[in-house]
Amino acid sequence: MKELFARRSIRKYLDIPVTPEQIERLLRAGMAAPSAGDGREWSFLVVQSQEGKEKFMSAHDASGAVKTAPLLIMVCARFREEVYAPEGFWVQDCAAAIENMLIEATYLGLGSLWMAIYPRQHRIARIRTLFGIPEEVIPFGAVAIGVPARGKPPIDRYMADYVYLERYGQRLDGR
Ligand SMILES: Cc1cc2nc3c(=O)[nH]c(=O)nc-3n(C[C@H](O)[C@H](O)[C@H](O)COP(=O)(O)O)c2cc1C
Repeated sequence: MKELFARRSIRKYLDIPVTPEQIERLLRAGMAAPSAGDGREWSFLVVQSQEGKEKFMSAHDASGAVKTAPLLIMVCARFREEVYAPEGFWVQDCAAAIENMLIEATYLGLGSLWMAIYPRQHRIARIRTLFGIPEEVIPFGAVAIGVPARGKPPIDRYMADYVYLERYGQRLDGR
């Protein structure tokens, strides 16, 4: 699947909106992710307004990309019945949802950037306050999405040194 290797972090976008259809596709892709016990302990906050983007940037110290991005989607952990929450599976659920959106964005010809919120407590607290996120919901991460100002080459980071066969430390390639 060549889209996967074409995905790169994009930090400058053109002034072209992401269409409502594309936004729905991105959200569907996020929600198509696997989740522990099919718990789907997530929720999505779509931000497109200038005010919303500025609020996000004021709360996140590595979010310069949002300046030009037309769209920001935050993924939050929303604990359902608290079955899986105490064990912390929600972290993996939210990460899988974000990665799905990044891949779908690439497939749609869009660029994207994953920006972590969790586990930085100051980011979580600020974003909660600024966006009216309730205490029992954890803003986990955000994705900036838009048409890239310029492309980046696809990447293949295969690291044979860290691929083992049968026993940890025994390389798959026999070297
Ligand atoms: C959990 C996570 C958090 C990240 N947080 C940020 C961030 O806050 N700001 C940012 O500019 N990039 C962030 N990145 C993007 C990484 O810097 C980027 O994925 C990495 O440098 C590899 O580059 P590539 O995505 O183009 O392959 C994050 C990536 C991940 C997976």
